[in-house]
Amino acid sequence: MLTNETLAVIRQRRSIRRYQPEQISDAERDAILAAGQCAPHAGAPVWHFTAVQNRVLLQRLNQAAKAAVRQMGIPGLLPLAENEAYDCLYGAPTLVIVSAAEASPLPPEADCAAAVQNMLLAAQSLGLGSCWIFFVTMAFLSPQGGELREALRLPAGYKPLFSAVFGYPSEAAPERPPYDPGVVTVID
Ligand SMILES: Cc1cc2nc3c(=O)[nH]c(=O)nc-3n(C[C@H](O)[C@H](O)[C@H](O)COP(=O)(O)O)c2cc1C
Repeated sequence: MLTNETLAVIRQRRSIRRYQPEQISDAERDAILAAGQCAPHAGAPVWHFTAVQNRVLLQRLNQAAKAAVRQMGIPGLLPLAENEAYDCLYGAPTLVIVSAAEASPLPPEADCAAAVQNMLLAAQSLGLGSCWIFFVTMAFLSPQGGELREALRLPAGYKPLFSAVFGYPSEAAPERPPYDPGVVTVID
């Protein structure tokens, strides 16, 4: 199979769920955030990136997300939310939340998802670990949702859509399973 530096980064990226406590450098954080803004977007960009590096706020988000999952009784997530030891951010020191203007003329989900993927790949290229995190966005559906939006200084009229954590990994990336030719059709 063909390879180069970019393809190697794409192939090596895996979700990391154990992190060292050290914060990433500002230069690494800013490179990740800039990569997010390099993603394709359907119309004018409608995204907003919130980098959260405050440990107290990260813990509040984790607790609020778990409380929301318990309150809503979401079956697949309930065992995690009921496990006191579970940290939905895996101890990562940086969380980036991607929000989009609610009044977007075009649906913003694809743009924001592309931005997250760009950030995951940028992190991989810098030797950092990362993991896309749906779970923590449940925090905005909790009773503390309004307070958290304020604490995060989310712009008015923006809705948090996706998020990912970043940090120095403290586990080896799992080996990638073999590619599945069954999910590909080539028409010559
Ligand atoms: C939309 C989306 C939401 C995800 N949410 C979570 C999450 O809340 N917690 C988690 O540990 N992993 C989450 N993941 C990571 C997936 O579990 C992971 O990408 C998948 O198992 C493939 O493994 P890989 O990333 O190592 O290739 C999410 C991935 C996506 C695309």
